[in-house]
Amino acid sequence: MAQNKTGSATPPNTWDKRGWRAYPRVQMPDYPDASALASVEDLLAKYPPLVFAGEARRLRNQLADVAEGRAFLLQGGDCAESFNEFSADNIRDTFKVMLQMAVVLTWGAQLPVVKVGRMAGQFAKPRSAPTEVIGGVELPSYRGDIINGFDFTAEARVPDPQRMLAAYTQAAASLNLLRAFSTGGYADIHRVQSWISDFTDAADAARYRDIADRISDAMAFMSAAGVTGETAHQLAQVEFYTSHEALLLEYEEALARIDSTTGLPVAGSGHMIWIGDRTRQPDGAHVEFCRGVQNPIGLKCGPSTTVDDLKVLMEKLNPENEAGRLTLIARFGAGSVGDHLPRLIKAVQQEGANVVWSCDPMHGNTIKAASGYKTRPFDSVLREVHEFFEVHRAEGTIPGGVHFEMTGQDVTECTGGVRAVTDEDLSSRYHTACDPRLNASQSLELAFLVAEELRKRRIQEGLQAKAS
Ligand code: PEP
Ligand code: CO
Repeated sequence: MAQNKTGSATPPNTWDKRGWRAYPRVQMPDYPDASALASVEDLLAKYPPLVFAGEARRLRNQLADVAEGRAFLLQGGDCAESFNEFSADNIRDTFKVMLQMAVVLTWGAQLPVVKVGRMAGQFAKPRSAPTEVIGGVELPSYRGDIINGFDFTAEARVPDPQRMLAAYTQAAASLNLLRAFSTGGYADIHRVQSWISDFTDAADAARYRDIADRISDAMAFMSAAGVTGETAHQLAQVEFYTSHEALLLEYEEALARIDSTTGLPVAGSGHMIWIGDRTRQPDGAHVEFCRGVQNPIGLKCGPSTTVDDLKVLMEKLNPENEAGRLTLIARFGAGSVGDHLPRLIKAVQQEGANVVWSCDPMHGNTIKAASGYKTRPFDSVLREVHEFFEVHRAEGTIPGGVHFEMTGQDVTECTGGVRAVTDEDLSSRYHTACDPRLNASQSLELAFLVAEELRKRRIQEGLQAKAS
C-alpha cells in the first residue's frame, strides 16, 4: 500500500504500530515483569533500524519481477537462529551455500535470483503445544532465543525481555557481516562457480557435473568476450536481503519506523517479514501489525488455509494489489499439494490478485525418526517441490520461488541426499534449535534438482511458444 485508493502516499488510515495490541494474539509470551518489558521496548525504539525503507522497497520491486515471472526467489536459512550457534563462520557458510544455490538456479531459470536469508532476526518460534513434558516434568515450551531459553529448566523457560536486546545485537552483527560479504569481493561469481565445481568434482555428486560444467562454460565465455567495467563490478557483488517471521510483535513494533522518503511505516527488523501458518488469523494481532508496514510480506499457507480466509487476507495485506507486496508461501506436505494449491490458486485468480507463489517444502514434511529425532526426508522435500511445479504448470501460473530451512554446516538433521544421512546418523550432528535443516550438500543438491525442474519448464514453454 505505497499508495492508497486516492493515490496519496499514506498508510491505511486507522493503522498505528501499537494497534495490534487491541487484537487477539496467539503464540506470544506473557512477560511476567511489565516494567522490564517496557524499558526494553523504550530502548529498542531508540536504536537504529536494522534495515532501511529504501532497501525494503527495492526488494518489493524485485519481488514484483518474481510475481511476473521475470525473476526467481530463493529464501532460506535457519529454522531458528540461536545465541549459542552464532558465529562468523556459521553466517559465512550459510551465505556461501545460498550463493551457490542462486547461481545454479539462475542457470536453471535463466532469470535473476532474488536472495533472501532467514537470517538476522529469525529468532521467535510458534510452537504446536504451550508446554513440553520430559520425564514427567512439564515446563513451558521453548519459543526461540528472543523469548526464552532452550534448557529444560523452569528458570530458562521464563520469557525474558532482555533477550530482545541480545537478538537485536546479534541481528545487527549478522547484517554487518552479510553486507560486507555481499559487496567486499567474497561473493564474486567466479569464486561461487569454483565452489560449485568443487562440489560436483566429488564422485558422489557426479550426477550434477554436467550442469556445473555448463555454468563454467558460460563464465569462461563471458570472460573471453571481455566482460569489463560496470558489469564485471556487478558480478563481484550480490544483493542479499534478510527476513524472519514477525511473531514477537513487541520487538517488531519497537523497530518500526516512519520512512522519511514516503512518510509510510516500515518494519526496521528485516527487509521481508512473514506471517506464520499458526498466526494468520484474519482478525488477529499479527495480520494487524503486518498490514501497516510497507515491507514485502510473506504469508504461510498450510492445509487449513480456507479460500475465504485467503481472500480476506489478500485484501487486508495488499489492498492496492501491488505486485511484490505479498508472497504466498505454500507448505502443504508431499502428497498434499494437489489437494490444496489448486483451490488457493483459483481464489487468487478470482480476486485478480498479484502474488508471488513460493514453495516451502519443509514444514509439511516433518516426521519423527525411530530414534526420536524430528527429521525431514530429502525425497519428501523434493517431491513437494515437484508437485508445486506440476500444479503451477497445470494451472498456467508462475512458480515463483522456494523457501528452505537450511544451513551451511555439515549437520545431520534431514535424512537422504547423495551423501546420504540415515536415521542412525541423526544423533551425530543434530544442532538445530528447532526444526531439522538441510545441510550444505543437501541444499546445493536440491538447488540442482530445482534447476532441472526450471529448465524443463523453460523448454516446455519455449516449445509451446514456437507451436503457437
Ligand atoms: C517456520 O517457517 O519456521 C514455521 C514455523 O513455518 P510455518 O508457520 O509454515 O509452520
Ligand atoms: Co521451521
